[in-house]
Amino acid sequence: MASGPVKVGIIGSQFEADIHAASIQMIPDAAEVVAVASPTAGHAAELARRYGIPRVFLDYREMLKEPDIEMVTITAPNDLHARMTVDIARAGKHVVCEKPLCLNLEEAEEMIETCRRQGVLLLYAEELFFTPKYRKAKEMADQGAFGRVYLVKQSEKHYGPHSPWFWDVERSGGGVFMDMGCHGIAFCYWFLGRPRIRSVYCQMGTYVHADKTLGEDDSIAILEFDNGAVGLVENSWARRGGMDDRIEVYGEGGVTYGNLHMGNALPTYSEYGYGYAVEKAPTTKGWSWPVFEELWNYGFPQEMRHFARCVRGKEQPEATGEDGRVVLEAIYAGYASAGQGRKIPLPFRPSGVRKPVDLWLEARQARAAGE
Ligand SMILES: NC(=O)c1ccc[n+]([C@@H]2O[C@H](COP(=O)([O-])OP(=O)(O)OC[C@H]3O[C@@H](n4cnc5c(N)ncnc54)[C@H](O)[C@@H]3O)[C@@H](O)[C@H]2O)c1
Repeated sequence: MASGPVKVGIIGSQFEADIHAASIQMIPDAAEVVAVASPTAGHAAELARRYGIPRVFLDYREMLKEPDIEMVTITAPNDLHARMTVDIARAGKHVVCEKPLCLNLEEAEEMIETCRRQGVLLLYAEELFFTPKYRKAKEMADQGAFGRVYLVKQSEKHYGPHSPWFWDVERSGGGVFMDMGCHGIAFCYWFLGRPRIRSVYCQMGTYVHADKTLGEDDSIAILEFDNGAVGLVENSWARRGGMDDRIEVYGEGGVTYGNLHMGNALPTYSEYGYGYAVEKAPTTKGWSWPVFEELWNYGFPQEMRHFARCVRGKEQPEATGEDGRVVLEAIYAGYASAGQGRKIPLPFRPSGVRKPVDLWLEARQARAAGE
């Protein structure tokens, strides 16, 4: 097996690509980015300049021909994840795929199967598994701090995404439940030790962004797990004031609360404003909660270090394509539940679903037609 830092190629050059490049720069002993591929020449070149990445490609398939690249990270829109994963795996390289895994379960299975056949890893980039504050909560729960845990809550809210493709359900697969509900579902599942998800109940609506999207901009999901615990996942693209990400854990013997940003921030008032407070904060005037070491607090460098060590055979993958597939099935069930107005039991495997949000939009239309 090769040694030294794992050589990485990044597909995409904008928001999440920057996070991957910055995170990998923080772990030079474990990995280094040697190439970036993105169809917008200026953007890829700019990312390369910022992080000293030596090779730039417009077509990711050209990048996949580079023999020294060992691991490729996908930071492109959701509808491209499946095709790219298959291409990367066939080129014999390990795959890091951003969340959500892909648009539908058929794609998920093809991705998992192709990587298995090609003998490469399919690593699912769910950074909440690596978020230091949330890992501490899980460590305490696993040590018995809260006794039997009966409720785990995770919520992630802001005022909506930064790029147009998120609003286009054909490309994103859905609204905020697809985009950020995937984090909350994964979190509850992981926190509880991956028990089977028994059912999903979900309520969603489009409250402020109906001019931009067919997708939902607010959702609440309740998941029942086989061990009797409940997960509560709240998400919003309608919440003002920048990113809010938090957890609550309740057991018969105790409780813990984690607020990812505000707990680590400096409560600040400024009459004049300043450079940067936190992801998606619209202003730095008045009261704000500037974060520091943002990437580390999220767990991105830790996630990339873990993935690189998996490639070197030094660690076993803690976040895989299989996790992404479980999350996607719960997302299907959530959209179907919101559409039908009832709890959906799992396994839930309707065939021919191109994108999860259809299960909400079509059921809602059918209900409206029947009323
Ligand atoms: N883990 C997280 O917290 C997190 C946060 C943000 C985004 N994401 C995920 O990362 C992915 C990218 O989101 P983003 O916010 O960076 O979006 P973005 O719009 O900022 O960037 C998308 C990038 O994909 C590139 N791209 C588009 N078509 C391509 C193609 N055919 N080949 C190669 N590159 C192509 C674009 O040029 C752009 O550089 C999404 O799946 C999103 O869900 C994850």
